[in-house]
Amino acid sequence: MVVRNIVDGIYSVGVIDWDRRLFDDLVPLPEGTTYNSYLVRGSTKTALIDTVDPKYEEEFITNLVKLGCDRIDAIIVNHAEQDHSGSIPIILELFPAAKIYCTEKCSDLLFSLLDVPKERIIVVKSGENLDLGGITLEFIETPWVHWPETMVTYCPERKILFPCDLFGSHHATSSLFMDDPCRTEVLAKRYYAEIMMPFRSSIKEYLGIFSKMDIKIIAPSHGPLHNNPSWIIDKYADWTSDKVKNYVLIPYVTMHGSTERMVRILAGLLIERGINVRPFNLTGSDSGLLAYELVDAATVIFATPTVLFGPHPEMVTTAYLANLIKPKTRYATVIGSFGWGGKTIDTIKGLIPHVKAELLTPVYVKGAPGEEAYNELTILADTIAEKHAQDTNIIR
Ligand code: FEO
Repeated sequence: MVVRNIVDGIYSVGVIDWDRRLFDDLVPLPEGTTYNSYLVRGSTKTALIDTVDPKYEEEFITNLVKLGCDRIDAIIVNHAEQDHSGSIPIILELFPAAKIYCTEKCSDLLFSLLDVPKERIIVVKSGENLDLGGITLEFIETPWVHWPETMVTYCPERKILFPCDLFGSHHATSSLFMDDPCRTEVLAKRYYAEIMMPFRSSIKEYLGIFSKMDIKIIAPSHGPLHNNPSWIIDKYADWTSDKVKNYVLIPYVTMHGSTERMVRILAGLLIERGINVRPFNLTGSDSGLLAYELVDAATVIFATPTVLFGPHPEMVTTAYLANLIKPKTRYATVIGSFGWGGKTIDTIKGLIPHVKAELLTPVYVKGAPGEEAYNELTILADTIAEKHAQDTNIIR
């Protein structure tokens, strides 16, 4: 149970989840997470910005009691996902005068997900605000900055932006503010890759708005706060830009060693041509790390043997994940080995329609790779080196 004062009238009342290792049964959390919630006290009204995962509602309420919170007039719901909205029902019960402030789409989701009574909801739009008495909360709708209903909240008197999931990191830390830039950069980038990258275009649009606002603190809903806002805004500007690095990611799986040999040959040829390479063995791997690597890779080589008549199931999952999170990959292809036939190349191509990469000629060989495979891999390495050298979106 931790309550901390951030600035005059604004408190951190969320919960640290040290032990969670998987989010939504999908996203690995090697360092746990936090569910940040904020209490804002004006002279006439008190508001809560987002709540916490329902598993921790008891601890959350204890935090409010610790602050002597005997009234809540407004619950600002920036986002309807359960890790932020799941404790709304108990707060509504404990504070019968409280009204929810959220976007229209969020109102529908709260009704369908949590059966929140519509009469307890006040729908807000961009530009509207809530006066708490000497302290104001302004609302900015940010649809598709993750979900269609998302919004951010800004407090002009304290110059704090509350962007909910945006700018967050899954990091169970006791530090209220970011104090380890190297560690936070890795965790925030991984979080961006897994959660925000599919919405890169929308985020870019809002970064322009945020960079013109007078913001002293960014208080996201996961991980540490930022009292140097430009640090995280600049990171996002980089990750969401069209630029990629002179870097080839090779997710691979091998059964009898042939595909792995091809990966090692290709990796060596690329390194000799001045290109950074990461062979990424998928067996028992962390999908969050794979997503992290996909943020900057100019080229992705899907390396898989054929199992019966198609790609190895590990590769199917990987290609499907890449398609979901939409990396800005410029070039892609398939390499690997087959025994007697199959449709591995066509299957992988069919799995990645949202990866808007130029597809290079695959290198797919029967059995163990010999001289012909080596020659084809050399041509592929030459092609990648030429493409990377000529592509102005690739940082060398
Ligand atoms: Fe932190 Fe989209 O939930």
